[in-house]
Amino acid sequence: MTKPRVFASFAIALLLGCTKSEPPPTSPAPLSADPQLQPASSPPAAPSQAPNTPPAGPAPASSAPAAAPSQARETPAASSADQSSRAPDVVYVPTPQSVVDKMLELAQVKKTDVVYDLGCGDGRIVVTAAKKYGTKAYGYDIDPKRVQEALENVKKNKVENLVTIEQKDIFTLDLSPANVVTLYLLPDLNVKLIPQLEKLKPGSRIVSHDFDMKGVKPVKHLAFKTAGLDRAHDIYLWHVPLQKETKTGLDALKP
Ligand SMILES: C[S@@+](CC[C@H](N)C(=O)[O-])C[C@H]1O[C@@H](n2cnc3c(N)ncnc32)[C@H](O)[C@@H]1O
Repeated sequence: MTKPRVFASFAIALLLGCTKSEPPPTSPAPLSADPQLQPASSPPAAPSQAPNTPPAGPAPASSAPAAAPSQARETPAASSADQSSRAPDVVYVPTPQSVVDKMLELAQVKKTDVVYDLGCGDGRIVVTAAKKYGTKAYGYDIDPKRVQEALENVKKNKVENLVTIEQKDIFTLDLSPANVVTLYLLPDLNVKLIPQLEKLKPGSRIVSHDFDMKGVKPVKHLAFKTAGLDRAHDIYLWHVPLQKETKTGLDALKP
């Protein structure tokens, strides 16, 4: 399919910071608004994450829980410092609110679910899950600025009893308590998460904005376009256990 590839390339360019965009907001966007894509406010990209990094999902940056706590909280200072000692793997680009709504609808989120957003940005996905479905939700981000914005968003929307925000590197998380995982990362980061995602309980759902996950077959893929969106947004849905793609042709000969 040509169109989704074009859209994915555009999204990747944004995430890599190749496209001019608006400065980050001083406060989180209202849930009802369809926010504009924004560049990461993270430190400049490390050489390995420079804009010519091959496309694969949200662009590389310049640069997890069982019992729900009663209040949105931030990781204590000492461990925060450990967790944020490296740059984000992908820049911050928020998912438009209408796409957030569609992602949660596709995942068939219900009150008894536990939603994790890996790289939560301003927390819009977890806040929406809590507000709309009454679901416990956890947002993780490595960037302290995003964690601060997400905490403010949680407070503004009065969902402290359902939403937890923590500053963590998503690649260190135990995902087993979750049964819905949302992603807006990059294709290679999605693939890197497979070993963690495979540990989700059977019946869990994974939804990704813009990017697929090479090696595992989605149960659904749609190019979502609605009023207010600048382009069609790809949304991928997987069910756990993940269905591995079977290799064909020359690929079948590779180990
Ligand atoms: C493209 S934004 C998506 C934000 C949000 N999920 C949304 O859809 O609106 C990706 C986010 O992942 C965060 N991030 C990048 N690498 C990370 C890592 N290793 N651990 C945790 N967060 C990370 C970035 O700081 C950024 O906020």
